[in-house]
Amino acid sequence: MKKMWFSLLCKALVLVLGATAAMAKPVLKVGTSADFPPFEFQDEKTGEYLGFDIDLIKAIGEAIGMEVEIVNTAWDGLIPALLTGNFDCIISAMTITEDRLKAVDFSDPYFSASQVIVTKLEDTSIKTVEDLVGKQVSVQIGTTGDLTVSEIDGIIVKRFNLAPDAIQEVRNGGVAACVIDLAVAEEISQQYKDIKYGEPITTEEYGIAIRKGNTQLLEKINEGIAQVKASGKYDEIYAKWLKD
Ligand code: ARG
Repeated sequence: MKKMWFSLLCKALVLVLGATAAMAKPVLKVGTSADFPPFEFQDEKTGEYLGFDIDLIKAIGEAIGMEVEIVNTAWDGLIPALLTGNFDCIISAMTITEDRLKAVDFSDPYFSASQVIVTKLEDTSIKTVEDLVGKQVSVQIGTTGDLTVSEIDGIIVKRFNLAPDAIQEVRNGGVAACVIDLAVAEEISQQYKDIKYGEPITTEEYGIAIRKGNTQLLEKINEGIAQVKASGKYDEIYAKWLKD
């Protein structure tokens, strides 16, 4: 008799566990370099990942029925880590470029961006990229800011691992200017009143990077982006993190 109860109990347990597993959402592991406010950064006190990209990927996850798990990884290690399989996709204010398209696939573009030149407030000598020739300029290593200034002869490029450090270098007087994404310049110059930024010098679009050939996930993510845009959630997230 006891044996029968025991076996019934076991069967019930297996059923319950099975049902729970079926209910649990699949996990979408997302790589980001959380050094880029207002797109991705870490709350100093709680360690929580915050920003436009974080909210967007969570909304996309919600739309496609996946649980989002954020994996913080140094910017210049993101693509290699994606290729290794450390995560399924990258959201990191990553511009869709021809060079990156050789290594990864990108989702539909989700944000229009540009590079700007950040200088000290009192600087009047730098307005265009040409004005940077003969000067030291800081960038985050391997970014489109790096690419933009590296293409021009005579600019002395100082590369930093972390985006905020590249901007700090302008404040410290170590370089004449920094080239970085507009919204990041906007965010940081609100915090530090001793720097300013100029007009856009490039036009770019951010996309979510996925390993080549992972078309199933690519389609899902594009479907998620479309849904988040159609529902008005995208505009909500935009208004929360960005000006105008
Ligand atoms: N948009 C630039 C690029 O794709 C900079 C992105 C840097 N992102 C970051 N999370 N630090 O190269």
